[in-house]
Amino acid sequence: MRLEHLEAEYFRNYQALRADFDPQCNVILGENAQGKTNLLEAIFYLSCGRSPRTRTDRELISFGAEEAMMKAGVFAWQRPFTVEARLAHGRRRRLLVNGVPAKSAGEFSRVYHTVFFSPEDLGLVRQGAALRRRFLDTALCQLRPRYAAALAGYQRSYEQKTRILRDWDGHPDFLAALPEFNAQMVRYGAVLIKTRARFARRLEEYAAAVHRDCSGGREELEIAYTTVSAVEDPLNQSEEEIQRALEAHMAAHQGAEHAARLCLSGPHKDDLAISINGREAKTFASQGQTRTAALSLKLAEREIFADAAGEYPVLLLDDVLSELDPKRQEFVLNRIAGGQVFITCCEDDRLPALLGGKVLRVRQGELA
Ligand SMILES: Nc1ncnc2c1ncn2[C@@H]1O[C@H](COP(=O)(O)OP(=O)(O)OP(=O)(O)O)[C@@H](O)[C@H]1O
Ligand SMILES: [Mg+2]
Repeated sequence: MRLEHLEAEYFRNYQALRADFDPQCNVILGENAQGKTNLLEAIFYLSCGRSPRTRTDRELISFGAEEAMMKAGVFAWQRPFTVEARLAHGRRRRLLVNGVPAKSAGEFSRVYHTVFFSPEDLGLVRQGAALRRRFLDTALCQLRPRYAAALAGYQRSYEQKTRILRDWDGHPDFLAALPEFNAQMVRYGAVLIKTRARFARRLEEYAAAVHRDCSGGREELEIAYTTVSAVEDPLNQSEEEIQRALEAHMAAHQGAEHAARLCLSGPHKDDLAISINGREAKTFASQGQTRTAALSLKLAEREIFADAAGEYPVLLLDDVLSELDPKRQEFVLNRIAGGQVFITCCEDDRLPALLGGKVLRVRQGELA
């Protein structure tokens, strides 16, 4: 999958952008606050209809402007496409594929895919479980429609059940609805658990290989999927076996849930335990190790996606190499060959010389 060109009008600090890209490697060069990350953001937005950094489309429209437009020519699935997004204050956004309004955000986001790495992704290693679950969910929703449906279903029943548990003392009759929501959570939950266990296994295979390379063979990255304790072996148990385990677990904790007024356990608490050479990365990894591990996860996602789609997604690397020593940098750069890459770096970096490819210089929202 590759972007051939991009246009943007009144998007962030770009008033009128037109750019053609190299099919392999594009280095986006510029000083701080010139528009490097904004350019990656536009490419990401056109791949899935949302920004990687904000929830509100309004922020994407240039200060003082009424509307923003982004449009890209893409080659994917052996065919050319155009994708276009139009954002306006006080109006619904419009997403178009080949000039025709997309039926849904889902349809829009099937044209091409991106894997985006930014310094915020260090949180995957450093922060709490919610970020890692989001990483799993984002990747799996793209890969598997059945997973996306199960996730939506699980979240709906989780919210209903949470509301019942919160309010039941004023309305004991609410409790009558619980068995139905429990049954839904068990059914959808088993799909989530089974799919996440498989994905985590492949993630570990690929990510450990990248991390091993980057560290010159000195570091072993391990990723273990953790879920409801009653599910003993999610990788090898069938979905039905997982359902039975969840059911029994829920029944055993029913009294505790009523007392706590919360959904106590379930895949909404899942996590990935990440360790380097047997020690928990969250607590013990250095800055460079953290960055290597986070990047390894993202590059693993890219490989898994390429296995499924038969093509590499577009890789967007924002400010990725600072804090890595030259050896690690070199391994990373060797690893990203294959699909199309966009990589930002600061003016005095030695990166462009190492990478080759096309250099795009950004200054105050314009390409030089
Ligand atoms: N809606 C907007 N309208 C106009 N300008 C905006 C808008 N949103 C952000 N900007 C500006 O765009 C500029 C460039 O942002 P960007 O994040 O792309 O910088 P960068 O080149 O990646 O810098 P750094 O090297 O510091 O990461 C910032 O100065 C920011 O204030
Ligand atoms: Mg930036």
